[in-house]
Formats: sequence, structure tokens, C-alpha cells
Amino acid sequence: MKKRSAEDLRSQRWFGADTLKAFMHRQRMQQVGHGRDEFVGRPIVAILNTWSGLSPCHAHLRDRAESVARGVIASGGFPVELPVMSLGEVMVKPTTMLYRNMLAMETEEVLRSHPVDGAILLGGCDKTGPGMIMGAVSAGLPCMFVPAGPMINATWRGEKIGAGTHSKQYWEEYRAGTITQKDWIKLETGMTRSVGTCNVMGTASTMTLAIEALGLSPMGAASIPAVDADHQRMATAAGRRIVDLIWEDCTPAKILSRESFLNAIVAIAGCGGSTNAAIHIIAMARRAGFSITLADFDAIGRKIPLLVNLMPAGEHLMADFHFAGGLPAVLNELRDHLHLEALTVSGQTLGSAIADAEAPDRAVIRTLDTPVSTLPAYAVVRGNLAPDGAVIKPTAATARLLQHRGPALVFENPTDMTNRIDDPALEVTEDTVLVLRNAGPLGGPGMPEWGNLPMPKRLLAKGVRDMVRISDARMSGTHYGTCVLHVAPEAAIGGPLALVQDGDIIELSLEERRLSLLVSEEELARRRKKWKAPAPTASRGYSKLFAEHVTQAPEGCDFDFLEGAGGVKDFIIY
Ligand code: FES
Repeated sequence: MKKRSAEDLRSQRWFGADTLKAFMHRQRMQQVGHGRDEFVGRPIVAILNTWSGLSPCHAHLRDRAESVARGVIASGGFPVELPVMSLGEVMVKPTTMLYRNMLAMETEEVLRSHPVDGAILLGGCDKTGPGMIMGAVSAGLPCMFVPAGPMINATWRGEKIGAGTHSKQYWEEYRAGTITQKDWIKLETGMTRSVGTCNVMGTASTMTLAIEALGLSPMGAASIPAVDADHQRMATAAGRRIVDLIWEDCTPAKILSRESFLNAIVAIAGCGGSTNAAIHIIAMARRAGFSITLADFDAIGRKIPLLVNLMPAGEHLMADFHFAGGLPAVLNELRDHLHLEALTVSGQTLGSAIADAEAPDRAVIRTLDTPVSTLPAYAVVRGNLAPDGAVIKPTAATARLLQHRGPALVFENPTDMTNRIDDPALEVTEDTVLVLRNAGPLGGPGMPEWGNLPMPKRLLAKGVRDMVRISDARMSGTHYGTCVLHVAPEAAIGGPLALVQDGDIIELSLEERRLSLLVSEEELARRRKKWKAPAPTASRGYSKLFAEHVTQAPEGCDFDFLEGAGGVKDFIIY
């Protein structure tokens, strides 16, 4: 690729001229001890860091920023660390999804407003990957994503236990009285044993793998455990590589294509990724100017079996996945389904980048002939209850419930659900379909991960551990169950979910990809006339901006004014 010269660097607009402004810019850099020749005429690399004291998944990212900086300097660049919003999944309320677009906007504007030529994006916890990629794609500067890496494995009583997955599982057992409070407290200290992202195929793993398959991370990076020495070496190598990408002016627009996004969906279908990907991949693609829809997820889901034996759909954890070959091994197995000519930040095509992949542990990464499951990781159902679609993860569901007909039990919102779910008088059987509404992008607000509704206590006592659950919410990728999610349009804007009443019969058919409310059109029209929109959830600030501009789940929940191919339009420096 043709290399640019120092005069072409964007940062030269700040530092290269013989003007008063450039004098002041250079002066202020030297004020903190940087020599003029360290940064003038060199690629300046922003290390955007989502570290914070309340993001345990990213607790090591200040150290990794130093590893990246070492690589940048070794390649003749100049690193600058810039903090951006930290979205620790567990701590941020009401949901990090409310703030994904804020991180995307911050990423874009931090890059646009500073004298930088390219960026390393340090993130990993669920929304940080997609948020940073959305912003960086819009900024249009060369960039690479360095994933935080998963936490190490944990065991309890000889069994592997996974972050998130077993929290939920043992919570149900604790509520059912099958484990003691002492057990529960031991699990609290023993399940998450190091810094790093959740060690199952949750949303963090799904999205870091998707970004790797898109070609925007070093190949094999997403599964390196956060505390492994290899993680530091990967970060340093990324620091070296971003300098080359800047000289080559290799922006995301030159790497990404519709085919790269299809590759990402194939990859996570084979891995059994989180349903949240159906929102984030669409949002990232639309930022890059490509149309990816739920139909792409369903079509790919039908073709790609589950190859990766990881919780919550399987038995193992991310460290096992890494040592079994990681994403390159999965992609190599799926190569006939991939667009191998897609480019990657390594400068190689995807096909070349995975050519030497090995899969040393077939218990974890299976072959196409011996999949973990032939059920799809993603399926999209439609019908009069979800005219614009809803998603389900069949591999994490109970097979017999994927064809089900039952009476609805409706919860108006999460507070209503919390107040009533454990009521001993609740009229519920294992055939009941639990419905939660007003939990979507506007209703939540921010579409929280409430879609994995808890089992009613009286059914837990009878040994019931799964039921059909339907909502306009999302579900944590670490969770499992027969949960129909992202129902669109959402109830808060008058989608049919708003019209369901207790006792209405709902039918789910995975085979027919159908979700039906068996109520006559006349009756639904009567109910619609009486329907009143819930009170707005926001009156000011960012939440108001969110409420006024967020799109529905099938469009990626981005802000309507941020979609479309971007590219830095530099401000004038007077
Ligand atoms: Fe951060 Fe799961 S809470 S990745």
C-alpha cells in the first residue's frame, strides 16, 4: 500500500505550520516534557481507554495502554492516552445500552477534536466494543480495537462455572431452596476470579469476536485471557501496527464491506453468540453505510451450526476456547461460508489470516460434521405480535418449548413483574407464556436486559426451570432460556405487545419462524383504540436526546442522525 509522508498527517494541521496557533500547540505539548521531535511529523496515536474504577472488566486497561504505547513508540509514532466513557455492564444503571450511543458520540468527537492520526480502542465489556467501533467508523481515522480479554476460569465443587451464566442459574436454585446462603456467598467471591470480561459466550465475547471477524482487531486477540502475558504482547503489537495503518491511510472504510459484516454474523453464529449482536452489528453496519437486517441473521442462522461448546449453550469457558484455537480455528472450519477476500487490519485478507489456524481441542471447537447443535444460534420470528421481528437464541432454549402455545401472563413493566412474580397466588403454570412490556428502547428506557424473566417461585418449587418468555427487552448473552426478545415495534410506541391481555393465547413456532397472538383483528382494533402511551421516561439531558432519536431494535437502536457513512470533516484551525 502506498505510504503517505509526514506532511500528509492530520496532526500536522495542529503542529506542522509556522503560525501562532501551531506554536501554541507545540508549546503546550512541550510544557509537559515532550520533546518537539517526539511528536512533530510523527503519527499521533490516540489510545482511547474505557478504564474506570467501576469497570472490573477493564481494570487492567491502564496497564494495557502502556503496552500499546510501547508498540507505538517502537514504530516511530507518538501515543496519547485519552479517557472515554466507561460502561461497566453490571454497575451502570438503568442499562449500559442507554449509553452505548453516548460512548459512540464521545469516541467520534474525541477523535475529531484532537490532533490525532489514528486510534487504538481499548474496550471489551458489552457495549464498549460496538460503541467505540460505531464512533471510530464515523470519525473515519485508521483504528484498531484491542479487546480487554476474558477473565480466567472458575470452578465450584469440581464444575466449571461461568460469569453471569451461573449467577443466574444458582440464583434460581437459591430461590428454590436447593442451595444454602453459605453456598451463595461462596459463589459471590468465587465466580469472577480475575479482571477481564465475562468468560462465557456472553455479549462481551460475542462482540469482541464479531469485531475480530470484521477485521478490526488482531486475529486471535478476542479470546486471549486478560491476565495472560500474551495479552500484553498482543497490545504492543497492535501499537506497532496502528502506526503502519496511519502511514497507509488505511481507514475503516477501506477495510469494511457488507461482506465483512456477513462474516461477523457467520462467526458468531458458529460461536453461539449473544442475541445482542443482532442490534450491535446492524448499528455498526449502518454507521459504515451498509444495510444489514434481521433477515441476514436468520438466513445465516439457518446455515451455520453451533461449533463452539461454550456456556451458556455448552460446557466450557473462554480460556478453553482460546487454547482450543480461538476464532481463527472457528473461521477456518467455516471458511466455505465466509467472504475470504474481506480485508483485515493486519493487511491480509481474512482467508490468509486464518490459513494456518489450528484446532487442537475438538471438545471445545467442533467440526462441521460434529457440531454442538444444529439448532441456529439466531432465529428471527415474525407475526402479528412482532410485525417487525423478534429474535430468539434456540441453542440456549429448551427444545420442546420452541413450538409452544399457551396463555399469556402480562407484566406491565419490570416493577409490576418484581412485585408479583413470586406471589404464591399468581395464576401461572409451566405452559403460561410470561410477557413483559414497556422494556424496549423507549420504554425501558434503553432496552435493559430484562428479557430473561425470572421463574415464578411457585414453579421453581415444582422443578420448572424454563418457560416461554416474551418481551421488548434484551437478554444478557450470559443467560439462557426460551426467551423471545427485541419484539418490534416495542409496546411503548404502540406495538402489538401493548395490546396483549392475561389469558390471550400466544403461539411460538421456531419451525415457521412465527410469533402469533391468537386474538381477532377486530378485538385488537378495539384494544388499540383504548390504548394510551405510557408517560415519557425522560424530560431533560441525554435521556431526552435518546428518547427523541433512538431507533427500534431492528434498526440497531442508533440515533437517527448518526447513521450513514461518516468520515472526519476537520474543523478549521484558525
Ligand atoms: Fe463486563 Fe460481563 S460484565 S463483560
